[in-house]
Amino acid sequence: MKILVLHGPNLNLLGTREPHVYGEQSLENINLSIRDWAGKNGVEVEIIQSNHEGELVDAIGSAPAKFDVLVVNPAAFTHTSVALRDAVSAAGIPSVEVHLSNIHSREEFRSKSLIAPVCQGQISGFGGYSYILGLQAALMLVRQG
Ligand code: DQA
Repeated sequence: MKILVLHGPNLNLLGTREPHVYGEQSLENINLSIRDWAGKNGVEVEIIQSNHEGELVDAIGSAPAKFDVLVVNPAAFTHTSVALRDAVSAAGIPSVEVHLSNIHSREEFRSKSLIAPVCQGQISGFGGYSYILGLQAALMLVRQG
């Protein structure tokens, strides 16, 4: 079982970026917890962070050949990117959207996700732990078939 984890734009800045909103955990630290979870659950993970929409589209486009399921934090592209939505929809593998912050309790523009309707579900508001919850959901989706 292989899971692709995607981090969108500016998530490379975690730890120093608005810590009152996103927490003090660095992306490196979150990735360590993802790898630790993967080891304990006997699954393979590949983790990609990109600030570039096209790179994320390419990663999602090639995912079905290599991965069973996608866990994605599209970051700001959540609210703007038809291209990412179409990529997730076209990929056709189960997908889980995750967010560190609760996007529904922030500015109004953040409560709208273009990606969530083409995912199985969305997890939002649990800081770095949102990724672990997303991975857990991804595992369940693949096991359920
Ligand atoms: C985010 C929420 C988005 O609205 C924001 O643009 C981000 C991070 C989150 O994880 O809370 O960059 O996806």
